[in-house]
Amino acid sequence: MLKRITLLGPPGAGKGTQAKLLAAKNGLSHLSTGDILRDEVACDTELGRLAKGYMDRGDLVPDTLIIDMIKGRLDEDSGFILDGFPRTVTQAEALEKIILIDVAINIALSREEVIRRLSSRRVCRDCGKIYNLLYNSPKNEGVCDACGGELFQRDDDRREVIENRYDVYIDATAPLINFYKERSLLKNVDGSQPTELVSDQILAALRSS
Ligand code: AP5
Repeated sequence: MLKRITLLGPPGAGKGTQAKLLAAKNGLSHLSTGDILRDEVACDTELGRLAKGYMDRGDLVPDTLIIDMIKGRLDEDSGFILDGFPRTVTQAEALEKIILIDVAINIALSREEVIRRLSSRRVCRDCGKIYNLLYNSPKNEGVCDACGGELFQRDDDRREVIENRYDVYIDATAPLINFYKERSLLKNVDGSQPTELVSDQILAALRSS
């Protein structure tokens, strides 16, 4: 059974959505560097204070901070899904020295669809469930179906920040597609399909690895 998975893809490709589904179905832990950083910002820790400016602009937090943050959270004996890490070749090389992953799933999505999805994303403040006002809206406006928590729009889901995040993805993160292809660990999935179909494709990719 494959158990060390990283999800690649542009902002808004559905990494968080799919990681939550995969983790729940397969008993794997879900490690999202974006979620960890947002918690650090909310708790006003030293790391949160250092990271906030980068995140607000849609730039990447420096590699050294991220690598230190992720060390110790990866358990050799348990399965995990990495969501948003690695994000640069430097991070991927550092990861290889800590632990070897089994497969990298690349969820592809166009720039136009990234902007459409992220402009309409809402997230539950309490349980983190992800919604979309166009594709997956809550039953009651502003209220989480799962826990009744308040839904909010992420600070970095403003149009100009989304555009910068996408450009940063192309420059810094897209090279990881070749990085994992060269290691025969890459599987490509079409992220433009409905959530359930993307999920099925990911499961098929995992089975064929
Ligand atoms: P992070 O939180 O990782 O953001 P991201 O990579 O930009 O990804 P998102 O969370 O925006 O999107 P997603 O792919 O998870 O999509 P989702 O499932 O939500 O990082 C934020 C910031 O933290 C970075 O900018 C950076 O500053 C910093 N950071 C984090 N990690 C870092 C690292 N390793 N190194 C350096 N800095 C780091 O889906 C999006 C929307 O689409 C939702 O509304 C969802 O409901 C909807 N949706 C999902 N799938 C579908 C579908 N199939 N059809 C229709 N709608 C769908």
